Amino acid sequence: MKQQPIGIFDSGYGGLTVLKEITAKLPQYDYTYLGDNARSPYGTRSFETVYEYTLQCVKWLFDQGCPLVILACNTASAKALRSIQQNNLDKIGSSKRVLGVIRPTTEIIGKYTKTGGIGILATNGTVMSNSYPIEIKKFYPQVNVFQEACPMWVPLVENNEYNSPGADYFIKKNIDNLLNQSDSIDTILLACTHYPLLMEKIKKAAPANVTVLSQGEIVASSLAEYLQKHREVEEKCSKNSQTSFYTTDSTEDFDNRAAIFYGKPVISSHLSL
Ligand code: DGL
Repeated sequence: MKQQPIGIFDSGYGGLTVLKEITAKLPQYDYTYLGDNARSPYGTRSFETVYEYTLQCVKWLFDQGCPLVILACNTASAKALRSIQQNNLDKIGSSKRVLGVIRPTTEIIGKYTKTGGIGILATNGTVMSNSYPIEIKKFYPQVNVFQEACPMWVPLVENNEYNSPGADYFIKKNIDNLLNQSDSIDTILLACTHYPLLMEKIKKAAPANVTVLSQGEIVASSLAEYLQKHREVEEKCSKNSQTSFYTTDSTEDFDNRAAIFYGKPVISSHLSL
C-alpha cells in the first residue's frame, strides 16, 4: 500500500512532544516527522524567514505523500500557517491540508480558568504575532490574556541545558514576569512545543493554585476529531502504524536527543533542504 503518512513539522525537537501524544491517541496511522534542527530556533526569526522555511518543509512533506501536515510548532503556526493556507495550498494541490496548534488550543483553553486570567508563555515570534490573545478572545471574549516571551527557553532545551541551574534562573524570571502582570492568572499555557521538557521546573516556579497546560494531548484530541469530521482526508492517510523521522541537521545528535522528547528510541534520516 502506498505510504501516505500524516506529516508532523517543527523547527527542531519540540514537535516530538506533540507527535508522542498523537501516536498514543491515533496509533493506526503512518507519520513522517521533520525537524528543521539546522535552522532552529525559529522563535527569534522574522515573519518572512519563518514563512519561507516552513513552506519549504511543508512542500517536502507533501512530496513524501503526506495528505495532511500538522505544524507542531507555535511559531510556525503563528507566522506561516495562514499565509501557506491562503497563498500556497491551491498551487500545491487543493486536496492537501495544513493545520496548526494554535486553533485547537485556543478553542478549549477558556474551560480551564476560573478567574478569567490566562498566561501565555511562548517564543518572541509567537508573542509578537498576538495570535493567542486574538484567537482566545474569539472563543472566550470575557477572558483576559497575558503574555511573556521566553527567548532563552528553546535554546536551553535544544542545547541540552534544560536541567541546569541556568534553566532554573530563566524559568523563574519569566514566570515571575508573567504573574506580575495580573493577580488573576490561574492558568498558564506552554505555547511552545519545546516547553513540556521544562514542565517540572515550571510547576515548581509557579504557585500551586496555577494550572500549567501543555499542548500535546489537546492537539492529539483535536486531530482525532478533525479526521472523524473530514473523511475525505482521513481516507487518504495510510494506516500501517509506521513512523519515520527526518532532521535537517546531524542524525546522530537527533537520535541521541529525540528520545527525551518522544519517550522512545528514534532513528532518523538526514534531509538537505
Ligand atoms: N517549538 C516551537 C514552538 O512551538 C518553537 C521553537 C523555535 O523557536 O524554533 O513555538
